[in-house]
Amino acid sequence: MGEIILVGSGWNSFLFRAEINSLVGYDKIIHPRLVTISNDSNINNLSNAALLDDILFNAKIINDYNISEREISLLIHKWTENNLPKGSFAIRTRKIGEETISLSSSSIEKEAGELIVSRYNNVDLETPEHEIVVILAGLEDQAFHKNKSDISKPVIIWGLRKKLPNKNKFESRNPIERPFFKPVSLDARLARLMISLSHKPDWFPKIIIDPFCGTGGIAIEAIIQGIDILASDLDPVMVEGTHKNLVWSKGEGEHTVKKCSIDNIVQLWGRQENCSFVFDPPYGRNSWKSDNGLDIFLQALKAAHSINPNGTICTMLPTVPEFMLEEKSDKYLVMGKKWEEIESLINSTGWIVSLKYAIKVHRSLARLILVCHPSH
Ligand SMILES: C[S@@+](CC[C@H](N)C(=O)[O-])C[C@H]1O[C@@H](n2cnc3c(N)ncnc32)[C@H](O)[C@@H]1O
Repeated sequence: MGEIILVGSGWNSFLFRAEINSLVGYDKIIHPRLVTISNDSNINNLSNAALLDDILFNAKIINDYNISEREISLLIHKWTENNLPKGSFAIRTRKIGEETISLSSSSIEKEAGELIVSRYNNVDLETPEHEIVVILAGLEDQAFHKNKSDISKPVIIWGLRKKLPNKNKFESRNPIERPFFKPVSLDARLARLMISLSHKPDWFPKIIIDPFCGTGGIAIEAIIQGIDILASDLDPVMVEGTHKNLVWSKGEGEHTVKKCSIDNIVQLWGRQENCSFVFDPPYGRNSWKSDNGLDIFLQALKAAHSINPNGTICTMLPTVPEFMLEEKSDKYLVMGKKWEEIESLINSTGWIVSLKYAIKVHRSLARLILVCHPSH
């Protein structure tokens, strides 16, 4: 059997890999947007991933991208002898990354298709039983973090597509489509990603706690994947709005939404097992300097530790876009303080930072995604 390759969406290759690492763990990076996994026992967990485009089974990797369309087609044909089950098929060719590989997708589809057709396999482009996905992966967009694994080399792969049951339709859950909307609403894909990052390959939360639920961006993404949510907010208008949005989302997880200040959430929820904390804390309007915001954030970390000291946290803090140049991150401000100071404050609440990554919002604002695990 060949490899299982996961194909990441083009939004952010670093975060794609971080998400896969949290959900199932990966073996090798063969391209910033392509990773291999060694076993498929947790594969169903991937159907909830925010940044996963495809899962390819029995995959083949070719590092020689100077190959011709004819040569690739012959290799794909040879591969089908052991890897394509009986039934109708279609070949789907995709280019990802920059246009480094000058092969024609339609020629590969046509030539390989003609070679593969037999009395066992007919072409059906509309509703095929099997899809052979060919990916011509060019150089990756260098706008993302320039860490070593992002230094990409072009590569060609193909494999059999596994249909993802819950292919996430984030567009239909755009904040403005919801019955209750405010500008603070978190984008559905980002909320979904934060939930994934609060997983570990051998530990999955059954409950998510969001003590700053706002319009319920995180809560919606939790319940539609069947995770229960305990949501709260200081503002009663937000509490009512989140409740409305959760009913509208028709998610399967159970939900409880309460009006509560962060000072009182330990009393509100008590001790909880198997829960993670996923939240987007408040901070001053367009500001990354709110001292008050920092106090509220630290209170949330302490409360999380009291509620479940064995859980995980995924949160987001305001910072400056320069933070994205990771090697210099210590000197930039996060919530008005140097990162090293923030990190030691986090450590003093019983958590350690296991992932930090800044995404740009606009010219002067970025959001720093943080994942924290217990320090014991
Ligand atoms: C950035 S918004 C959260 C947005 C949310 N993720 C969404 O998708 O709509 C922060 C929320 O924290 C709430 N908040 C502010 N101070 C709070 C406090 N001390 N305790 C609890 N909630 C607070 C605000 O009412 C606001 O709804």
